Amino acid sequence: MQLAIVIMAAGKGTRLKSKRAKVLHEIGGQSLLHHVIRAASQIVAPQDIYVVIGHQAAQVEAAVKDTGVKFVHQEEQRGTGHAIQTAENSVRDYENILVLSGDVPLLKSFTIAQLRDFHLEHRAAMTILTAAPKDPTGYGRVLRKSAGSNEVTAIVEQKALNTEQQKVGEINSGIYAFRTGPLFSHLGELKTENAHQELYLTDMAGLLVKAGERVFALQAANAVEVLGANTIAEMMDLDRELRLETARRLMAQGVTILRPDTTVIDTTVEIGADTVIEPFVQLLGATKIGEDCRIRSYTVIEHSTLAANVLVRQGCVITDSRIDAGALIGPFTHVRPETEIGEGAHVGNFVETKKVKLGKGSKANHLTYLGDAEIGSGTNIGAGTITCNYDGVNKHRTLIGDGVFVGSDSTLVAPISVGNGAYIAAGSAITEDVPEDALALGRSRQVIKPGWAKTRRGKKV
Ligand code: UD1
Ligand code: CA
Repeated sequence: MQLAIVIMAAGKGTRLKSKRAKVLHEIGGQSLLHHVIRAASQIVAPQDIYVVIGHQAAQVEAAVKDTGVKFVHQEEQRGTGHAIQTAENSVRDYENILVLSGDVPLLKSFTIAQLRDFHLEHRAAMTILTAAPKDPTGYGRVLRKSAGSNEVTAIVEQKALNTEQQKVGEINSGIYAFRTGPLFSHLGELKTENAHQELYLTDMAGLLVKAGERVFALQAANAVEVLGANTIAEMMDLDRELRLETARRLMAQGVTILRPDTTVIDTTVEIGADTVIEPFVQLLGATKIGEDCRIRSYTVIEHSTLAANVLVRQGCVITDSRIDAGALIGPFTHVRPETEIGEGAHVGNFVETKKVKLGKGSKANHLTYLGDAEIGSGTNIGAGTITCNYDGVNKHRTLIGDGVFVGSDSTLVAPISVGNGAYIAAGSAITEDVPEDALALGRSRQVIKPGWAKTRRGKKV
């Protein structure tokens, strides 16, 4: 067997001060571990990827199980060296392994491939992916044999740096390639004599050199790719990087994103050419937006599909829904899960929808609640219409046909159906089915008392 990838993801992430395991925290809308597994999967098959889990193992495993990777349980987390000791039985038959960190999520598969190729070409015992970031504080430093040499003598952790070593700007990314022979021959020699009393995988560099093996460093061209996330602030720096990268990719495909630094677009989002995304828009999860749409500011769209030519005006919330071509939504519309807005339909301000099908060209333009309803095409839902879908115990459906006119401020008490072409008078409370082409009035008759107001004014003291 040629090559396996081990991803170290068992740590708690103490510096995050969070209840949730570090690798389950998200950037760009997906967990850190998801990003690492995605990159690793482009190098080896999922069954050759071993994820070392420990802290909140069950949750971590559940979150990424669908990727098909294998899991190694590190019951007690006694350091990165111990993580690899735990994986030994699973990976010792591979000739080489690549070791990735679950908390270094921006790493590209291209860079992993470069590390692999360099390692194999040099027949190294260990190759360390390094970088020279603006600020190396906090990272282990890589000591080269001499300036310009690509051989390494040791890695020194931040807390153990002497004054001279503090000047070294080249950091250990926590990503390595190992030949398993020398690795597992010497892995047992790790000691816990350090600041955290852990078994440091980084000490393998010095140990292998001492054993006469060759240890190399390969510096990543882009330091940003190998930045780790130990604190929430660091994680949010990576989140910003990833989202800007996503925005740049979409713009390269013909999407206009005004002020991309203000948008929150998940890596999973797809957008068609000539669509314009205004500032302060959030596009989340499995959202797909077609061509020639415009999404105005302060709108949040999650797990939804919009066809071409849709205009979403300011301040809309759209979740788990579908919007067909040419529809017009907003401003301030709340499109709740399982809504389907038909072609060219209009849904306007302060309209809330839930489990609703609104047919082609139908309109619900103002101040309306539509829940558990199916509405045909060319129907007009007047301002202030309410589908009363809940009787306090159960939910019921409202069916409204094609070409129906529902007058303003009507309440439709479900279960109820309104036939094609029917009219409902404004202000009606509709409790019985309305046949096709009928007029339904459900309100008390108006009374006129001539002169009443004038008389009342006259009585004023
Ligand atoms: C590590 C390196 C440091 C490097 C940095 C790069 C060591 C000792 N230091 O430090 O040189 O600059 O990464 O980001 O390795 N983990 C386990 N089991 C454990 C401990 C950790 O699986 O027992 C996992 C963590 O979940 C994490 C990864 O290993 O995903 C790295 O551990 P972390 O504690 O974050 O190491 P750093 O202090 O960042
Ligand atoms: Ca780390």
